[in-house]
Amino acid sequence: MIKTPGGAPEYSTAMDPLESLSEEHRQIRVVISAITSLLDLTRGDRRISPTPFLELQAFIMQFADGSHHAKEEQVLFSEMVQAGLPNDSGPLASILNEHDQGRKYAAVLGAAARACVDGQWHRQVEMVDAARAWCQLVNAHTDKEDLMLYAIAQTVIPDRRLALLPALFAKVDPLPASAFKDAANAVVEAAERAAHTQRKTG
Ligand SMILES: [Fe+2]
Ligand SMILES: [Fe+2]
Repeated sequence: MIKTPGGAPEYSTAMDPLESLSEEHRQIRVVISAITSLLDLTRGDRRISPTPFLELQAFIMQFADGSHHAKEEQVLFSEMVQAGLPNDSGPLASILNEHDQGRKYAAVLGAAARACVDGQWHRQVEMVDAARAWCQLVNAHTDKEDLMLYAIAQTVIPDRRLALLPALFAKVDPLPASAFKDAANAVVEAAERAAHTQRKTG
């Protein structure tokens, strides 16, 4: 951290201002990997615990969408728009569209998982299909952001604004980075427990 002439703290541009978002992508991919491994063990004729899917939906609501996408939309994308990038066409429009699609999958996932908890097992296919669709969408989405959109952001946003991003992210999401990781681990552990049961009973 460096001090501006006025004394206000400012982050050095030597550090990657988007590193916290990229680290969250890595946590999201760990979740996707664990859920995908569980999905690979499912068959239509066998019941599967809805617990990891409820955990996944809670993780999406509070972290993957609730804090990560909030930081992207309210801070990063907003800065890109202020720098002149359109948000109704091109890469930003496509990325925003994927956020909306992910929210739709998460809503279906949550409703179907809660129905399974209530004994409506015929909703299991819907739960599994929504989880698979979310994993596929978000796996490609995070790659697209890491490899393309974040690079565009670092090119179009002026250095003085890039240096402010970590502080602006913290205003939108004041939770420590460990909270995101702990929530991701909770999904992974629930998925691994359910996978273990599937293998034992398979
Ligand atoms: Fe995103
Ligand atoms: Fe992202």
